[in-house]
Amino acid sequence: MRLSVGRLTRAVVALLLPTALVHATAVRRASTCNGHSELCDRSFGNVTFVGAHDSYAVSSINPAANQDVNVTQQLEDGIRMLQMQTHNESGTIQLCHTSCLLLNGGTLQTYLQSVKSWMDSNPNEVVSLLIVNSYDNFSPAQYDTVFKAVGLDTLAYSPTSASLTYTNWPTLGDLIDNGKRLVVFLTTQADYTSVPYLIDEFSNVWETAYDLTTTTFDCNVNRTSGNSQEQMYLINHFLDDEYLGVLVPDKSDADKTNAASGTGSLGAQVTECAAQYSRNPNFMLVDFYEYGGGSVFEVAATANGVTYTPSNIATPVSSGASSTSTSSSSSNAGAIGFHVTTMHLSAVAAVAGGLLFGALNIV
Ligand SMILES: *[C@@H]1O[C@H](CO)[C@@H](O)[C@H](O)[C@H]1NC(C)=O
Ligand SMILES: *[C@@H]1O[C@H](CO)[C@@H](O)[C@H](O)[C@H]1NC(C)=O
Ligand SMILES: *[C@@H]1O[C@H](CO)[C@@H](O)[C@H](O)[C@H]1NC(C)=O
Ligand SMILES: *[C@@H]1O[C@H](CO)[C@@H](O)[C@H](O)[C@H]1NC(C)=O
Repeated sequence: MRLSVGRLTRAVVALLLPTALVHATAVRRASTCNGHSELCDRSFGNVTFVGAHDSYAVSSINPAANQDVNVTQQLEDGIRMLQMQTHNESGTIQLCHTSCLLLNGGTLQTYLQSVKSWMDSNPNEVVSLLIVNSYDNFSPAQYDTVFKAVGLDTLAYSPTSASLTYTNWPTLGDLIDNGKRLVVFLTTQADYTSVPYLIDEFSNVWETAYDLTTTTFDCNVNRTSGNSQEQMYLINHFLDDEYLGVLVPDKSDADKTNAASGTGSLGAQVTECAAQYSRNPNFMLVDFYEYGGGSVFEVAATANGVTYTPSNIATPVSSGASSTSTSSSSSNAGAIGFHVTTMHLSAVAAVAGGLLFGALNIV
């Protein structure tokens, strides 16, 4: 792989410095960062990551699900931002979708244990969490207790100040070498003075619009509390369907939505945003990421200027809303019956959800 100027400089410095000093300054250097040597010297703020929207909302029959496979599989396949919603269940931080009656993805602690195990087995990977805290507004101290219980607090990166411009983030190599490979964003209640690793999202990252039901993904700044020109940014690239006024994730179009090119595709939105701002999005949140057969990871690789190598990611799990089955011909009589059932179940549940939750959207 090619040597960057930064690496070359370090190599030259290492040759010139006395051995003792070299040992003091040049600690272990990761040679591969998030799968690519080119990314080790790249600022975190200049890398594009694929994120799983509502990463804990996993089910093939619940219409409130946004993903088909669990967080371990998501990480295994290349997801590097995990977005989640927290809800208060008798004082426990629970991962639910809109309401715990609708979709309960378990406790934050159990979920984070999976993240911790995976990160321990994959020491050259930088992972981000995006915690949507606006439902019940837990305090940083409450999160800190859970992170400590799991042992993720020591892996979490504390920035040098409460907000950083996109150019001021450390390189992936630095995060890995310093053992601070977990970057945690909190939408509300972040307090740099009490828990510095729980980073305030909107003073560090701006977002495009979300909850779209048409493919008109644009790149306008929709939510921020800082100077968007200096912040990293996140695109919400997932589509919803509307049933009787209730929004539910649109799985039937996921192939097209996640695609590398075409109308309404992830690739098209990235191209548009890159043209508008002269830089790529940092985070791309998607639903049912495995739809498209890896296209979301291809889009990220292209944005990062690295080679995309297709791998065997999870097979799309089809539910009722999708008419095409990707499964092989074995046991397909049962599969067809199942699809019809889940389609009806989805519709019934959407209606029930509408009645139960009124104007609340399941996204
Ligand atoms: C970001 O990375 C690209 C390579 O994809 C590089 O050309 C560019 O100079 C970098 N910009 C910054 C601000 O680091
Ligand atoms: C996650 O999914 C994988 C693949 O389907 C499975 O092997 C693993 O047991 C699951 N892990 C948990 C904790 O459910
Ligand atoms: C969560 O629920 C518990 C009791 O069910 C309550 O004491 C607490 O104030 C609630 N809110 C937070 C942020 O913990
Ligand atoms: C954010 O996007 C939504 C959906 O397109 C739109 O209704 C809202 O007005 C936007 N808000 C801002 C501040 O741009």
